[in-house]
Amino acid sequence: MKRRSLLLGGMAGALGLGVLLRPRDKGQDHSSYFRSLGTALDSAGQSKPTLIVDRNKLLENVRTLKSHISDRFAYRIVAKSLPSLGLLETVMQASGSNRLMLFHQPFVNQVAAVMPEADILLGKPMPVTAAHNFYRQFAGGNFKPERQLRWLVDTPERLAQYDTLAESLGQQMQICIELDVGLHRGGVSSDQPLITMLERMQQSDHLQFCGFMGYEPHVVKMPVGDPIMYRDRAVVLYQNYVDVAREYLGDAWPQNVLLNAGGSPTYQLYDHGNFPFNELATGSCLVKPTDFDLPTLADHKPASYIGTPVLKALDSLEIPGINLGGIQSAWNPNRARTFFTYGGYWKAKPESPLGLVHNGLFGRSTNQEMLNGSRNISLQPDDWIFLRPTQSEFVFLQFGDIAVYDDGSIVEHWPVFSEEPKLA
Ligand SMILES: Cc1ncc(COP(=O)(O)O)c(C=O)c1O
Repeated sequence: MKRRSLLLGGMAGALGLGVLLRPRDKGQDHSSYFRSLGTALDSAGQSKPTLIVDRNKLLENVRTLKSHISDRFAYRIVAKSLPSLGLLETVMQASGSNRLMLFHQPFVNQVAAVMPEADILLGKPMPVTAAHNFYRQFAGGNFKPERQLRWLVDTPERLAQYDTLAESLGQQMQICIELDVGLHRGGVSSDQPLITMLERMQQSDHLQFCGFMGYEPHVVKMPVGDPIMYRDRAVVLYQNYVDVAREYLGDAWPQNVLLNAGGSPTYQLYDHGNFPFNELATGSCLVKPTDFDLPTLADHKPASYIGTPVLKALDSLEIPGINLGGIQSAWNPNRARTFFTYGGYWKAKPESPLGLVHNGLFGRSTNQEMLNGSRNISLQPDDWIFLRPTQSEFVFLQFGDIAVYDDGSIVEHWPVFSEEPKLA
């Protein structure tokens, strides 16, 4: 073959490969659902980045959850992942549960002040000063901490601190022990510290042992191996601590013992079979941020979005300095247009219109974020872009009141938890 035809053949091959590798156009305008979300935000006079919860989808997720748990386990609502009183009240009503798991002392005070019926379990062990601050800020009322508040304690040392505090305050305290059932994020990991803690509580005039918490999200996150195998290992560890404590306490084993486990990623692994716990805790699966797009949550639906106004819409892509925007958009049809949004850089992923992408060359911004999209996207300034949070616990706190969407309109606003009340 001649050199020229070899060259021509090579060029044609490269061109063909280029056509094959070139990203396809993924751009698509809002579906009717997102159009309706945008119209609802406009009608409600929203003009800034807004966290939206779709109430119907939230309630559907509660029904899905209940269909799995049925009456095999009690349900505890993970408030960290649903950090708003209005949101919690809605879930409490729909699920029929008054059990909450909280992770932040100021929020514990807020719940104790306005939800006298709540049963609160701490989801992490708090410094003893945080516990002290709870009692200092607690203004009294129908919520009875000695019955309705369960502190989580992980070590004999922390337990001794709580005992001293309880004695100095003359306060009865319920104590739940954190177990390490494989996550290795702390908690009791052998029999001896557990026995030491039980012994201390038996001798204490103020501390009452109320049960265990063993959290096991690692079970579905392992790079290799079957989740059921990891689940079973966690269950064996949990069962061992139950057996050790039962044997040690004998008749002093609590009548209404609390044996908590689970989280959104794992709760459906307990649909069938016998397990040593009597309560499962979840929160995130009810709003389903993207981190929870897991096979074990396939029947839950996304129920929360960030809506943010488009400030600027350009028909090209320009990058400051050496302008590589033209090359980027010539190669990738999803970079033909440029949008700047009101705010950005949240823990969230663009959801609608379809095919929006960040631009690594331009960079991220919390003030005006650049997104690129294809010519199929007809967004204009003042239209809305929707993103899906990757997690709820921190993201939900960044937008002020949650806009509650129900069947075409924003029907309510739910304030989110704040750092108030301050220390007296
Ligand atoms: C102790 C504990 N239980 C349960 C959960 C589950 O919460 P979610 O369902 O929101 O993942 C968590 C989440 O961090 C946790 O720390």
